[in-house]
Amino acid sequence: MGQLLLGQVLSFSGDPFEDGLAAARIESAGALRLEDGRIAEIGTRDDLMARHPGDTVTDHMTALILPGFVDAHVHYPQTAIIASWGKRLIDWLNGYTFPEETRFADPAYASEIAGRYLDLVLAEGTTTVCSYCTTHPGSVDAVFEAAEARGMRVLAGKTCMDRNGPEALLDTAERAYDESRALLERWHGRARLSYVITPRFSPTSTEAQLDALGALWAEHPDCLMQTHLSEQVDEIAWVRGLFPEARDYLDTYERHGLLGANGVYGHAIHLEPRERDRLREVGAALVHCPTSNTFIGSGLFDIGGLKTEGQRVGLATDTGGGSSFSMLRTMAAAYEIGQLRGRPLHAAELLWLATEGSARALGIDAHVGRMVPGQEADLVVLDLASTPAIAQRAERAESVWDQVFATIMMGDDRAVAATYVAGRKV
Ligand code: GUN
Ligand code: ZN
Repeated sequence: MGQLLLGQVLSFSGDPFEDGLAAARIESAGALRLEDGRIAEIGTRDDLMARHPGDTVTDHMTALILPGFVDAHVHYPQTAIIASWGKRLIDWLNGYTFPEETRFADPAYASEIAGRYLDLVLAEGTTTVCSYCTTHPGSVDAVFEAAEARGMRVLAGKTCMDRNGPEALLDTAERAYDESRALLERWHGRARLSYVITPRFSPTSTEAQLDALGALWAEHPDCLMQTHLSEQVDEIAWVRGLFPEARDYLDTYERHGLLGANGVYGHAIHLEPRERDRLREVGAALVHCPTSNTFIGSGLFDIGGLKTEGQRVGLATDTGGGSSFSMLRTMAAAYEIGQLRGRPLHAAELLWLATEGSARALGIDAHVGRMVPGQEADLVVLDLASTPAIAQRAERAESVWDQVFATIMMGDDRAVAATYVAGRKV
């Protein structure tokens, strides 16, 4: 017996940046049939109800049903220090982030934060995250155990760093390789989990460590490799000083075997033309982290230019450099940054980035992020009139897209009427 969900159903037949807004569709009298944790059928409520009279029915009325949000770049260990005041990247790392990450030497603390973090994001309608952990292998076990207990599709990896941080947080080139490999062998492909090779960023890795992780990636090319790239101008100047031989920031990765189609590069704001060309040539993925970029004062991601030139782009909170766990708030910030760059994103483009775009960036779009039969039934249901302020605006809407846009700009966890993980309401 299956399960029918009724509501307004959002789907994409293509990438709205490339194929236009006609690629986005909302079926107002829509329905989904779920079976064995997957989407079995998509259609209209009348048709699916008539053909499956024995199914259980959940009527979400006029709420919007879409794939669960995919947050392509987060640091779950920074949950408890989100929204820390007044510092830019390097001082923010030294002043807030590294001291907090040091606490993850305690596996009990890691477990507490991992569970807290995943429950917070599920309440925001996020069903998949790609997370940095800390240098401690126990921090990786903690988030994978918490994800497995919740049945979630989660990607994560041990953050590797062997210089320019507090001693208690540093590993070595050899430990980075050995511990990453052991974690990869333990977790990659188990349940819905994927291991991600994770050098933090070039300022905190010696060339020996970058080489070691490049070698590990070459041995496991199906794994993703995630890192940070060109987030803040001061950081880029620091990288230039640390790597005088490198042509640019991207080259500090490229020279060590850390550039490829399965590479996921967070921020990517201040890119040189050569870096853009190389990223596109290899088909790497870039991750836009808008609330982080404004919060830490990093700069304005060139979403319009990068999508037009054919880059693969995902969307992310970058918790806790980002100031929110919510992908609604993140889409709103992406809209505002687009405005400042003269490219206002349509609600359909924002929702595509937060679902299929991020899933494509992480190479998991065959499993999640799309409204097609066979996908794992990770879903979010959005109430498009969740507060009096949004409801009164929605009443004036000229189309459903106006309503959706009001919820993107003004909505929070109150807009999340339900979150489903593998067909189960959580
Ligand atoms: N660059 C290196 N590490 C970090 C981090 O934890 N957060 C952000 N925003 N940028 C980084
Ligand atoms: Zn980050």
